[in-house]
Amino acid sequence: MLQAAALAGAVVRPWPNPPVGAVILDPAGREIGRGWHERAGGPHAEVAALAAAGNRARGATMVVTLEPCRHRGRTGPCTERILASGISRVVYAVADPTAAGGGAADLQRAGISVVRDDPHQAAAVLLEPWLFHLRTKRPWVTWKVAASLDGSIVRNGADTRDPQQRWITSPESRQEVHRLRAQVGAIVTSTATVLDDDPLLTARPQPPLPGRAPDPLRVVVGERSLAGTRLGAAIATGEALGLPRCPPAEVLAVLHERGVHHALLECGSRLAGAFAAAGLIDELIWFIAPVILAGPIPALSWPNGEGDLSLAHWRVTPIGVDLCVRARVQR
Ligand SMILES: NC(=O)c1ccc[n+]([C@@H]2O[C@H](COP(=O)([O-])OP(=O)(O)OC[C@H]3O[C@@H](n4cnc5c(N)ncnc54)[C@H](OP(=O)(O)O)[C@@H]3O)[C@@H](O)[C@H]2O)c1
Repeated sequence: MLQAAALAGAVVRPWPNPPVGAVILDPAGREIGRGWHERAGGPHAEVAALAAAGNRARGATMVVTLEPCRHRGRTGPCTERILASGISRVVYAVADPTAAGGGAADLQRAGISVVRDDPHQAAAVLLEPWLFHLRTKRPWVTWKVAASLDGSIVRNGADTRDPQQRWITSPESRQEVHRLRAQVGAIVTSTATVLDDDPLLTARPQPPLPGRAPDPLRVVVGERSLAGTRLGAAIATGEALGLPRCPPAEVLAVLHERGVHHALLECGSRLAGAFAAAGLIDELIWFIAPVILAGPIPALSWPNGEGDLSLAHWRVTPIGVDLCVRARVQR
């Protein structure tokens, strides 16, 4: 299951579909096929793995992160393909709560041994934003910050339109941000950040991740004119979305309407504070550089001057010379 989740997690998100990976094992436990869902309308992970395994699938075990679908969507039910392949056992991690669900029971009725198992919670974590948006009717929000050890997000006196002066963290951390962007449906920022930094906010991971999902929707919130900025130009041509200053819940409602289930918040302290105060940050990813800046802007300012975010599932990983802290916001 770890392998199946890793396959699904290493590609561009097949937005608006969930990320799914599958591995097929022969009776001796050797891998004979692997697959992942690369884009909406393309083959599902199970079908890709079955194609790789070919005739060897007969009598084999399929391990898949999400319950195989039983519905006739754009690509046909996976359950039928599994039955036709001669697979004798299916292990899946997460039940599908949508109209496509129920495939596990169908397979069992047809005589296949079906087990639900995710010992390391790898698939559950991977699918959390998708499950969350189905449950709550709003996207899961990951707040990304690049900060100094003392929590400053801007260097003193830096010309923030010059990336060399603006960047706080290492090239490795910035690459990780590109990978994150490739895996979300939208990136949310503010007029203030666009006017200060003139960012592009596109996903440019190197090497590129497999998959062909569209670039995330870039959303800029605020009243000020963005004339002379690259995102201002993209909004004018309809390639990005500009929203007037509004409560964060309204931003997320617009994204939900567009089918976004995971949004990355990349902004300064005030918009982050508005999201945090509204209880609309679900997870954070902070890249902390080995520098103390005592800079002009902290990562977060509360709109009414006070508050706190309690964190759980704290994971710290070294990346380049930085630390990456990933945590869930506790409610
Ligand atoms: N290191 C990092 O990770 C990182 C990431 C992004 C940005 N930054 C830095 O952050 C700096 C900007 O930070 P900041 O704190 O000044 O600005 P900010 O939080 O990025 O944006 C504040 C602006 O957001 C707009 N806005 C829309 N809805 C809002 C709401 N509900 N509540 C509050 N504001 C709302 C308003 O624009 P209007 O006034 O136009 O309505 C407001 O002035 C930039 O210099 C940039 O370099 C750093």
